[in-house]
Amino acid sequence: MPIILPPITRRQFVKGSLALGGAAMMTPYELAAAAGSERFGLDPNRVALLADTHISADPDLVYPGTKWPGSAVKEGEHESVHIVKSIVESAKSVIALNPRPAHLIVNGDCTFGRGSEAEYKQFLKLVEPIRAAGITIHVTIGNHDNRWNLWKLLPFLKKEHMGVQAGVIELPHANLVLLDSGNGALGDKQLNWLAQQLDERSDKPALIFSHYNPYNNRGVRPIKGMRDGSSLLKVLTERKHAKAYFYGHTHEWQHDRLEHLHLINQPAVSYYFGKGHAHGWVDMKLTKTSAHLELHCINRIHKQHGDLIKVSLKN
Ligand SMILES: [Fe+2]
Repeated sequence: MPIILPPITRRQFVKGSLALGGAAMMTPYELAAAAGSERFGLDPNRVALLADTHISADPDLVYPGTKWPGSAVKEGEHESVHIVKSIVESAKSVIALNPRPAHLIVNGDCTFGRGSEAEYKQFLKLVEPIRAAGITIHVTIGNHDNRWNLWKLLPFLKKEHMGVQAGVIELPHANLVLLDSGNGALGDKQLNWLAQQLDERSDKPALIFSHYNPYNNRGVRPIKGMRDGSSLLKVLTERKHAKAYFYGHTHEWQHDRLEHLHLINQPAVSYYFGKGHAHGWVDMKLTKTSAHLELHCINRIHKQHGDLIKVSLKN
């Protein structure tokens, strides 16, 4: 269910920041992003992939994501994550790219709780520098989001199909199809819509995004997959130009394949469940023949920082 935030100009950004409390409240990071917005080029073939930002209304929230019933991590050994610092660090590294990605996708779970207005206001404040940098943000809905509150704050972004939000981003080398699995399933109507969108665009590779894992998590935390994940995988494996499915939800960086289809499990920007796991975002560069994925860990000395995955876009 994509909610699309158009980029904002530097003037709009400064004006908005003034409305929020004045330029004196702007951090050096925000000012740098605004100042640099007209300096770097935007690459339509580059997309920053984020998921599970889990922004809280509390800007100081630190959360131990490794804690859940049955976790093997001992009490006292949980690794807490500062939520706001995680998105700020990720945004800074995205904005610093040259050329900058023309698009950025948050693949669900924008907020920490259940998508309150206060959480979305905080989320918007934190992504404003990204928009000021000229980057178009797209957001899918996760189980921690509330589409109604999001629409209320951003009504101009509502794109409704079949009672859910879904959309296609047409890029030069690939089409990105964004779906709504916020309720834990896609539903037959949306699956049929997906098949139709793919069949109408069979001349170009497609990359598909939604929040839920399509099958039970194979990683550290036992998290059930979306209820109709097998139907989704059938739609995608039957179409050779559907090259990869991207999902979040498990907060774990994983890569799998089913026949020709790559299954890319994006790490969370925020907290993670496995001890020592990566958190951060993925830089995706598209060419005519491939999608190059590079993991950017917030901890630059993490052993997986710089991990590469290549998805062939050839038929
Ligand atoms: Fe999440």
